[in-house]
Amino acid sequence: EPKEPAVIRREDYTPFPWLVPTTHMEFELGLEKTRVTTRIEVERNASADHSPSIRLNGDGIALVSLKCDGGECAGHAMEGDDLVVTLEGDKHTLEIVTEIDPSANSQLMGLYASSGMLCTQCEAEGFRRITFFPDRPDVLSTYTVRIRGPKAQFPVLLCNGNRVETGEEGDSHWAEWHDPWPKPSYLFALVAGDLVARSDSFTTMNGREVELNVYVRDGDLDRTEHAMESLKRSMKWDEEVFGREYDLDLFNIVAVSDFNMGAMENKGLNVFNTKYVLADPETATDGDYDGVEGVIGHEYFHNWSGNRITCRDWFQLSLKEGFTVLRDQLFSQDMGSEPVKRIEDVRVLRGVQFPEDSGPLAHPIRPDSYREISNFYTSTVYNKGAEVIRMMRTMAGEEAFRKGTDLYFDRHDGEAATCEDFVKSIEDGTGMDLTQFRLWYSQAGTPKVAVDLAHEGEEAVLTLTQTVPDTPGQSDKQPMPIPLKIALFDRASGTHSGEQLIVLDKASDTFRFGGFAEKPVLSINRNFSAPVTIQRDISGEDLVFLAAKDDDPFARYEAMQDLMVGHLVAASTGALSDADREAGRGDIVAALKAIVEDEALDDLMRGELLSMPSQTYISEQIEAADPGRIFAEREALKGAIGSALKDELHRLYERAEKVSYSMSAEAKGARKLKTLILVYAAASDPEKAAELAAHQYDRADNMTDRQGALMVLTGIDSAERTARLMNFYNRYQGNALVTDKWFSLQAMSLHPKVIEHVKALADHPDFTLKNPNRVRSLYMAFAANPHGFHDASGEGYRMIADLILELDPINAQTAARFVPALGRWRKMEPGRSALMREQLERIAAAPKLSRDTFEQVTRSLG
Ligand code: ARG
Ligand code: ZN
Repeated sequence: EPKEPAVIRREDYTPFPWLVPTTHMEFELGLEKTRVTTRIEVERNASADHSPSIRLNGDGIALVSLKCDGGECAGHAMEGDDLVVTLEGDKHTLEIVTEIDPSANSQLMGLYASSGMLCTQCEAEGFRRITFFPDRPDVLSTYTVRIRGPKAQFPVLLCNGNRVETGEEGDSHWAEWHDPWPKPSYLFALVAGDLVARSDSFTTMNGREVELNVYVRDGDLDRTEHAMESLKRSMKWDEEVFGREYDLDLFNIVAVSDFNMGAMENKGLNVFNTKYVLADPETATDGDYDGVEGVIGHEYFHNWSGNRITCRDWFQLSLKEGFTVLRDQLFSQDMGSEPVKRIEDVRVLRGVQFPEDSGPLAHPIRPDSYREISNFYTSTVYNKGAEVIRMMRTMAGEEAFRKGTDLYFDRHDGEAATCEDFVKSIEDGTGMDLTQFRLWYSQAGTPKVAVDLAHEGEEAVLTLTQTVPDTPGQSDKQPMPIPLKIALFDRASGTHSGEQLIVLDKASDTFRFGGFAEKPVLSINRNFSAPVTIQRDISGEDLVFLAAKDDDPFARYEAMQDLMVGHLVAASTGALSDADREAGRGDIVAALKAIVEDEALDDLMRGELLSMPSQTYISEQIEAADPGRIFAEREALKGAIGSALKDELHRLYERAEKVSYSMSAEAKGARKLKTLILVYAAASDPEKAAELAAHQYDRADNMTDRQGALMVLTGIDSAERTARLMNFYNRYQGNALVTDKWFSLQAMSLHPKVIEHVKALADHPDFTLKNPNRVRSLYMAFAANPHGFHDASGEGYRMIADLILELDPINAQTAARFVPALGRWRKMEPGRSALMREQLERIAAAPKLSRDTFEQVTRSLG
């Protein structure tokens, strides 16, 4: 009987008894056998309790040899995977030798082989798969690393910091790297392989000349320009907006095709999933371009929010991730369309984080316990974490907030800090009192704010009531400060007398506004100033008013979404008569028509306003949701819009079609509209849509148009579909990222036989469980396709459960990421709910599960 993995608790934190001022490593590289010699200096930590020994973490590695001060140690023993060494004095030197097989490392944590090259991923606990070490973020050390290997196989040898020495001996060569900045082991990185670089340079605000390289495999170089430009823009932006300057003479990025996540901020040597580096118009969509820019920014910004100031322990993960996500969001807002980026970020929050927060895996942005930290790289820690910091910025104002972040960077530079340290710095820097605000760090669950607007005499009376729902292990929550931007519109003139920020910090509160002869129209949570659910009893008429007139682009989008969500929730829960359904559709069509015709709008924003709410988002608003009904109602509404606005959308398409390819906002907007219009056409007149989509596909000179057309075609059973799918596959054979798209498009399709298609694709020669991008391209896409995943037969659930079981021994981290899809069982109608639960129980009963999957399945069953 294998014993349950232990629970780690935040309250149990104690400082490590030893300091590790220096770490020297030597790597003797080989794909199948790499020998690692690690020499660490250790000395007693005066601010920690005395310990007679030092615990060096390991994970599945064997000790080849161990020396203390050049000889025998006083004692040592294995405790599980860890090596515990007896230390009698106050200062010692330990030498540890390990041997590892990177080619056998399918978990992609630690040192692993990826198409002939060697690379590392150490966050959160991968370094212990390389050598025995105090693998915790509060142990900072200065690293010197010598890498040796066959010259022909590994012509490029990279590590953190600066290259200080190189040499050759016969067929082998070596490079020694030194990183002057003390860092925790999770920021260690090593890359060796046959790579080529795009090189450039950046001069910092204080005149430091920084060499920049983006390393890729031979043949990919001409797809690295956007990554390099994004890097330079990130460096400049962080100087201008946060006053942060880069601190080494060298900054390297390496693209790797086998990678568990998006990218990793290793000091001076960021390692990236190829998906977030490679882009050119022929193979990358506008969305892919934005993804590259955002992730390049994210990892670069970590140099300060993460590396110079790191985390004391992994419960503080949101300290670096929440803050860095906010920084990358603000960066992208400044580089492109601010309101559209805000809408996209809110869509991710609501599409992923809200469901997480209302389900069995809900946790605060600063969790209290975990079994496997990899399971806490969540939308809650990242995206809600960013929203929480954004609220502080909204309440303080940009200028005061900058004083707070300056103080934070200044006060904690070189330290392993806590979320509390961050809040205290913002408090001291801005002068705000954030005592009650700290609840956002400890209470999970999305607050609900009920809104009531009354009109008394000349006053508008706004009553707000908040509730924070119970979540696993947490009930009876306290009210939190909720900053809400509002405006009160005069119905006749369509204007308001100024936006105001109100903070609801009680369970219920009333706010009065004078000077209203008539009841105004309330616009609330403008720009999504707080990550809450607004429950407002607002008429369709007022939503149409706001969708047409609100001067806050987000609020305008929100009104349009509310109009559609309200209708679809009512329609799919049987609450609408036929006459009401018709009337509801009429309101929606009228509002959309006004948006199509509003000349003041740019097309990127117009595209947002014309987009329907996702099925997942609609489903979230319903108890015991029936995915089949929601799907049918949503498709019917889509078709009704397509028919009613046929001519208007056609004219819009013709206008957009004339815009030639470029990266201007105008051209991006035109591309967004074209595919959106095809989506509506597909629901109203599939035959015509297939023709139009095939036409768009055939004349496309860029991936955005081509992928958009193919996406629409995959849902329409037609000759056009078959031919274009085959064309797409053949055209891009050998390009892994585009082949991923080919898998995804079919897995996301609205085709009635999507389940059969996905099964067949799993047997395709290009499919493999060894590559996370490929696994996600097929199965994440499928799990996110409610039409396929929630098939009434339960077959979709069974497929995902089968995948989890098969993938778990190969790549536990990736396998565990599929569990949350099944974890939504409590929100579904009884039939599906039982089928989902059954699959979770089948996984739970498997003889040997990874810690990752065990934890997610156990929590999901609750
Ligand atoms: N720190 C990385 C980022 O946000 C993510 C690394 C996550 N790694 C992991 N094994 N969970 O950019
Ligand atoms: Zn990050």
